[in-house]
Amino acid sequence: MCIGSGCRPPGAPRPARRRSPGRRQFAVTQPARTSPSVAPCSLQLAVRAVAAEAASSTTGQPHGRVFNFSAGPAVLPVEVLEQAQADLLNWRGSGMSVMEMSHRGKEFQSIIDAAEADLRALLSIPDNYHVLFMQGGASTQFSAIPLNLAGEGDTVDYIVTGSWSKKAASEAKKYCKVNVAATGDNKSIPARDSWNLSADAKYVHYCDNETIQGVEFKGAPDVGGKVLIADMSSNFLSKPVDVSKYGIIYAGAQKNIGPAGVTIVIKAKVLYDAIAGSNGFYNSPVDPAVRSLMNVPFTIPSNPDLEKEFIAQAAKQGMIQLKGHRSVGGMRASIYNSMPLDGVQQLAAFMQKFAAQHAK
Ligand SMILES: Cc1ncc(COP(=O)(O)O)c(C=O)c1O
Repeated sequence: MCIGSGCRPPGAPRPARRRSPGRRQFAVTQPARTSPSVAPCSLQLAVRAVAAEAASSTTGQPHGRVFNFSAGPAVLPVEVLEQAQADLLNWRGSGMSVMEMSHRGKEFQSIIDAAEADLRALLSIPDNYHVLFMQGGASTQFSAIPLNLAGEGDTVDYIVTGSWSKKAASEAKKYCKVNVAATGDNKSIPARDSWNLSADAKYVHYCDNETIQGVEFKGAPDVGGKVLIADMSSNFLSKPVDVSKYGIIYAGAQKNIGPAGVTIVIKAKVLYDAIAGSNGFYNSPVDPAVRSLMNVPFTIPSNPDLEKEFIAQAAKQGMIQLKGHRSVGGMRASIYNSMPLDGVQQLAAFMQKFAAQHAK
């Protein structure tokens, strides 16, 4: 599958809304209809006013860094940032930075080849799958997937378990017939035997980890041999995945990709334990069976007004981006692979202290 300007299949309509290029994403796909092109990814700098939130970091992290709990763009390991800094003026003796070199030259080709080889090794991606580095963020796939895999009269199935899968289904409705085979309550995943899959669906799409609600599948759903497509934007490379079960896996790169995944389960457990041990001061809305290991939403049910204060006080202590998504409110800690365990432990300790101060 080749997605991007000049790569639409003949006769396919142009996406109704195009996203500006810039955010990188990965798509792991089964053999292509057209040959993949590795286009240069233009960079979009997201200037974020987060530093102001934590005027001076009290976290004890190197370089005065905060604990950034953002759902994405997310924290990167210091070692990676230092390497990028060192490479910026002269990438491995080439005499220039990556941003200045030809995207068709051998230096850049070696970078993209190494990235693909690493990804293949990490995920054990079978040889009959392509790896594509695309532009446009994961959202572009919301239209690119139906445009490439289905025609106007075709039926496609969507499992809706939160905001992102809902968005994906709405976008697909512009191009083909969408059967929403199951809809969750944003806290749990409907039992598999309640799904109403279509006999003739071109594919079944689901979101493996709902970043906003914190609802995560604990394995690939069985869709009876249909082409399975997963949005893994917020849990990509957080756990082993049997790629052969999927037709396409896609993921925005700005969340979890790059750093090695260690102590993920422990990290999430620290936070869920802090919530459970708060005597009801904090609440996790999600069914324990499907709680996300990446995005942990929580609320202060007895006094939602306190949530603003919680977020402000945490920021003063160098723990930033804890505000829940605007569509659901509350708090959310995104604890991707590069968030140090220390950050989660400091947050859990802060939660305990805050609860002790404010519990009635
Ligand atoms: C699960 C999921 N899908 C899709 C998106 C959209 O990604 P992008 O911003 O790369 O378009 C997000 C963004 O947060 C997400 O969390």
